[in-house]
Amino acid sequence: MLKLTSFISLLFLTIIFLSACDRDRNHPGHSYFPDMVKSRAYESYSENPNFADSTSARLPVNGTIPRGIIPFDFEKTLEDRALAGQIFFNPQKMKLKDVKEGKELYKVFCYNCHGLKGNGMGYLFTSDRFTYQPASLISDKMMNAPRGEFFHVITLGYGIMGAHGSQITPEDRWKIIEYIKVKLQGKKLGERTISVIDDSPKESIADFEARLSKLYPNQKGVGPVKSLSLETINNKMAEEGQKIYKQMCSSCHKPTKRYIGPAPIGILERRTPEWVMNMILNPKEMVAKDPIAKELLGRYISPMADQNLSEEEARKVLEYFRTLK
Ligand code: HEC
Ligand code: HEC
Repeated sequence: MLKLTSFISLLFLTIIFLSACDRDRNHPGHSYFPDMVKSRAYESYSENPNFADSTSARLPVNGTIPRGIIPFDFEKTLEDRALAGQIFFNPQKMKLKDVKEGKELYKVFCYNCHGLKGNGMGYLFTSDRFTYQPASLISDKMMNAPRGEFFHVITLGYGIMGAHGSQITPEDRWKIIEYIKVKLQGKKLGERTISVIDDSPKESIADFEARLSKLYPNQKGVGPVKSLSLETINNKMAEEGQKIYKQMCSSCHKPTKRYIGPAPIGILERRTPEWVMNMILNPKEMVAKDPIAKELLGRYISPMADQNLSEEEARKVLEYFRTLK
């Protein structure tokens, strides 16, 4: 009996299985769950009756940025190009593999104009198709230019060179730059031409902080968090906070060392918990209105980025900060 049942079920399964096969390659065969084959959602480029302009592909909401993206807030001016060189840095550590990929990207995006050696003798110029010689990337000027300046030029364009920001992702831009710096200019891998940090400020960080706490004691900052009392450290929260921090903050902050922004170690000795939360959740307004945040911006030159954390996420990061020793 058992044998017969298994035989019948096996036969049945085989029939189902075979009926899914196609006789000819132009037909997909039967499909059992058409809902999974044909999307019920609107396709990216289909018409959409729900929006006034009837397009399905939407632009991001004004004033928002995707997670993990560091905004490039510079204008296409010479002043901003120089400024980008001073304060805009590659958040990733570059490896030789990136230089190799940079070479391939350079060949796609730059080589036709700037040439294999970067001297401006690209095919478009040598074949007379382009009458204006593209700049040399190995001139004294460009040998001394920091990577942030290259990033500015690639992103926004320069003179008659067009902007490439929409065609090349930020990571790929850094790879191209690293290739130019390391292979065409012979510079060291991952070198920072100008340090972010002004090493000779008139006031030491300790004096700076002492002055701030005297001038502005117990500031709660401007933002959604009005009062917050801390209990004993919750390790699970701190662990989750560390993960968020690694992903969203570590491109600018190192736990115990000054980097593009201050080190969060000991932050609650100098700021209130409310202030820290508001700084994470509402940095733009903080930098405009809160006296401490204003001073910080002056001192660290680049602004603190709004990473769009939820209040809960920010609270976890704060818990992580409390564990730093
Ligand atoms: C269509 C040709 C073309 C392409 C493609 C192109 N450039 Fe340029 N680039 C130029 C020209 C022309 C100039 C000089 C602009 C001027 O002087 O008005 C220039 C200038 C520059 C400068 C500034 C040099 C200086 O002396 O100030 C840099 C840096 C640069 N390009 C890098 C790149 C990189 C990197 C790529 C690839 C991502 C690239 N360019 C792609 C034509 C091009
Ligand atoms: C694009 C770089 C950047 C990113 C990303 C960034 N920050 Fe900052 N942060 C700064 C800079 C620069 C400052 C100091 C200057 C200022 O406040 O404008 C700062 C200041 C701060 C301060 C105040 C420190 C103090 O000593 O008072 C806190 C707290 C802070 N950041 C937390 C975070 C957290 C949490 C994240 C991740 C969710 C984050 N930051 C992501 C650049 C950044």
